[in-house]
Amino acid sequence: MKIIDGRVLAENLRKNIANEVKQYSRPPGLAVILVGDDEASKVYVRNKSKACVQVGFYSDQIHKSSNITQEELLSEVKRLNENNNIDGILVQLPLPAHIDANVIIESIIPEKDVDGFSSENIGKLSLKKPFISPCTPRGVMKMLASIKCDLRGKDCVIIGASNIVGRPMAMELLNAGATVQVCHKETKDIKLKTKSADVIVAAAGVANLVNADWIKEGAVIIDVGINRLDDGSLTGDVDYEAVKGMVSAISPVPGGVGPMTIAVLLENTLTAYKARL
Ligand code: GUN
Repeated sequence: MKIIDGRVLAENLRKNIANEVKQYSRPPGLAVILVGDDEASKVYVRNKSKACVQVGFYSDQIHKSSNITQEELLSEVKRLNENNNIDGILVQLPLPAHIDANVIIESIIPEKDVDGFSSENIGKLSLKKPFISPCTPRGVMKMLASIKCDLRGKDCVIIGASNIVGRPMAMELLNAGATVQVCHKETKDIKLKTKSADVIVAAAGVANLVNADWIKEGAVIIDVGINRLDDGSLTGDVDYEAVKGMVSAISPVPGGVGPMTIAVLLENTLTAYKARL
């Protein structure tokens, strides 16, 4: 059984990025906007900024109060769209309810949309002509590549149909030649689908949802879930201890997908930077 170590893979990716950045006179710049005081978002934003500095990027962390208006946030994005030292703009989600996240996402010019969430970048991924693709699904693809998982003809089941993970994940796997099923809240019998899957990507946000009788012997499991339990510990969507004896490979939580998402964000920022050179 292989444990897919996201920390090691992410570190290698960061090393390569840091090496490449040395050859440029101006550093790639990433602006991260945080609105409000959501504790989890604060941690994610801090980790993203820290990773930027580690690889020699310029990092601009912008913190706005939760009562900022949509118009004010739009003008903040506009200012960054026009700033030549900024190559990537990321607005941390979720946003407060009075702000339409789609409007904000679409206001980031696609050339600087390092989350890959804009309709233009999602469209390019869907047409198998990716420019910048969402970080978490990209990170999952790198994790699967690291174990030389040939996805052509594989039956893949994704649990969760979010814009951030499930939907772009389906496109990535489809582009790689897999047969893809996306399960969601309306799916009748998820276990029936996962039981015959060669690869399962769990992104439901439900602690320990996937257990031993959900999977077949030898499956590859990527756990995107990050759930905080009452005792403060983190756990994924997969009951790791229950399934580890059955799988051929699995990613742990923490130390799996999480570090990869941030490393790909850096890679996306470098892609945006090079396209703007
Ligand atoms: N919130 C949770 N995941 C993400 C992500 O990948 N990007 C942004 N912008 N917000 C998030």
